[in-house]
Amino acid sequence: MDHDFWQQRWQNNEIGFHQETINPWLAYYYGEKGAPAEKRATLRVFVPLCGKSRDMLWLVQNGYRVVGNELCDLAVRDFFKESKLQHSVDYAGEHTHYQGDGIDILQGDFFTLDREQIGEVSDVFDRAALIALPPDMRRQYAGKMTELLTPGTRMLLVTMTYPQQEMDGPPFSVDEEEVHALYAENFGIDKLAARNTLQDEPRFQQRGLTALSETAYKLTRL
Ligand SMILES: C[S@@+](CC[C@H](N)C(=O)[O-])C[C@H]1O[C@@H](n2cnc3c(N)ncnc32)[C@H](O)[C@@H]1O
Repeated sequence: MDHDFWQQRWQNNEIGFHQETINPWLAYYYGEKGAPAEKRATLRVFVPLCGKSRDMLWLVQNGYRVVGNELCDLAVRDFFKESKLQHSVDYAGEHTHYQGDGIDILQGDFFTLDREQIGEVSDVFDRAALIALPPDMRRQYAGKMTELLTPGTRMLLVTMTYPQQEMDGPPFSVDEEEVHALYAENFGIDKLAARNTLQDEPRFQQRGLTALSETAYKLTRL
């Protein structure tokens, strides 16, 4: 999964991962069960490998601040065009900094980000980021995430689990054992909930899957 793979996906509009609706785990844990309205402006949510996810817009509209990171410039430009958010762009440095009201997006490689660039972060929302990467890159990703986050930072991690031999990733299957292998040394891990999702995913049924579930975890940086 090199940079060209993702650039091609965006250029060819092969972005089946992009959702027009708000992620239900996000809506529940940051909406219904989220912080009270008056506290939200103090929270800043890091969205790694963010694509043009509408979840970021939802977070901003619901009072949170957001910092996203995405490799492909096209995705970031589309995000701002489609969300109609006013923004400025600073091209200095390896990562291009898009800045809007309540939202920053750092366009460039996740693996070369540093703490100073992402700034203060209270939360992370990982949907289709860890599971977008093959096994060796997942280890690097978890290591980088550990380096970027300060103690106390919470992460809502959503994974998919399915028989890996039935379909090539991405998205890749990541089970509970792997989440622990990647994160248990540096994060507290609470499994929040899991649900079967095969019936909601005709595109994965067409690719041959016979079972599919999503699991949400709350991780806390130790
Ligand atoms: C499966 S998509 C998920 C996008 C988003 N999280 C969502 O829910 O729609 C994975 C995204 O990661 C981006 N990506 C891949 N490798 C990256 C890297 N090294 N640094 C930053 N972004 C990367 C891709 O361009 C793609 O937009």
